[in-house]
Amino acid sequence: MSKRLFIRTYGCQMNVYDSDRMAESLAAHGWSRVDAPEEADLVVLNTCHIREKAAEKVYSELGRLKRLRAERAARGETMLLAVAGCVAQAEGEAMLERAPFVDLVVGPQAYHRLPELLARRAREQWAAFATDFPVESKFDHLPERSGASPVSAYLTVQEGCDKFCTFCVVPYTRGAETSRPVAAILAEARRLLASGAKELVLLGQNVNAYHGEGPDGRSWSLARLLGALAELDGVVRLRYTTSHPKDMSEDLIEAHGRIPQLVPHLHLPVQSGSDAVLEAMNRGYTAEAYRRIVERLRAVRPDLALSSDFIVGFPGERETDFEATLDLVRTVGFAQAYSFKYSARPGTPAQVMRGQVKEAVKAERLQRLQALLAEQARAFNEATVGRTVPVLIDGPGRHPGQLVGRTPWQQPVHLDGTGLQPGDLVTVTITGSHAHSLAGRRAAGATGEGRA
Ligand code: 5AD
Ligand code: SF4
Repeated sequence: MSKRLFIRTYGCQMNVYDSDRMAESLAAHGWSRVDAPEEADLVVLNTCHIREKAAEKVYSELGRLKRLRAERAARGETMLLAVAGCVAQAEGEAMLERAPFVDLVVGPQAYHRLPELLARRAREQWAAFATDFPVESKFDHLPERSGASPVSAYLTVQEGCDKFCTFCVVPYTRGAETSRPVAAILAEARRLLASGAKELVLLGQNVNAYHGEGPDGRSWSLARLLGALAELDGVVRLRYTTSHPKDMSEDLIEAHGRIPQLVPHLHLPVQSGSDAVLEAMNRGYTAEAYRRIVERLRAVRPDLALSSDFIVGFPGERETDFEATLDLVRTVGFAQAYSFKYSARPGTPAQVMRGQVKEAVKAERLQRLQALLAEQARAFNEATVGRTVPVLIDGPGRHPGQLVGRTPWQQPVHLDGTGLQPGDLVTVTITGSHAHSLAGRRAAGATGEGRA
């Protein structure tokens, strides 16, 4: 039997990381990855459940794949269909009611069991499931990453979340918060660096709640882990995502002033600028507390660029609450942001709260917020024009001969790639700015990373 695998990934970087791990786990059993479902013997949808539309997209994609499978069956080909990720976890067996043709349903804690589940599916007539939370760690079972690695490599250090924001499904789909031990993370980091990674992006749903066991038997904070990673040979840049404002501890803030490889860019979701809404969301901080965290960060790292997540139209959000959000955006200033209309998720406390906001009101608020955020993002990019900054080359750019790299503030820069290759750190003068990227030209002289 031929073993060609296609994985479609939805949602967050954690899912991108998980898709790679699934591919590696199956590679050990002879599966190789292809670029299109039409060519695959197994199609995996690695799904995201965070907003309603994401789940709906999965069901409509499943509908398309069902038709593809029928076409291929007519040609005598077989195609297995697996659903992984948070929709799989949340829906469990209910998924088979809406999509009875699915072969495998596997939650994020069970990816190491994929080969076994495939074997089970081949033996039995019904779909194979694995959506309970096991006690053993999937990290002990997944094969170590192999082969060439990209310049910027993801490294999961923490999973799950205990915050229970009232709108969010993550604590239910990803389970309780757990941290990987320091030694395992350092070992994976060394391997990534040895295979060419220059930037390590530490991942976790609640990454700054990290509290993994250190080699000294004590619990290490994220700041301490970052300090140890910065000591490894060849680490040019370090980032971590996603953080919760409540876990921005003093030592982590201080790390931003102390660790040179830690980029001056932080994704710190605030969700709302209204204290009443923040409280109803169970976020555990006020708008003022968020502002103070940002002030402290900027005191140690004045060039820090912030990115954030926002939800508009949370139950009970009045016009004055929404204006408080706009006010927070104006006073804090964001280089980049993601904003969403509140979407009621089954099983979450906010779903049954009074004061659900009308769709039209949500849409109107989202549009106002996005206009303001887009203006700030544009101004932020525009302010880089004329400056000379270090750019880490990522890969091919838009046009032939071009490469794309990133500034320390995460802005993509397109430039002539002559004599350059991915992984190079070069000095670039920014010559132009667009909505989401910059154009640049190589400048003479060498610049290391560091303060701008
Ligand atoms: N509705 C809208 N946005 C949501 N997010 C999470 N859950 C919901 C929801 N029910 C957003 C939050 C979070 C980001 C990853 O997705 O802003 O930070
Ligand atoms: Fe969801 Fe809140 Fe946890 Fe983030 S902190 S994953 S929004 S429950």
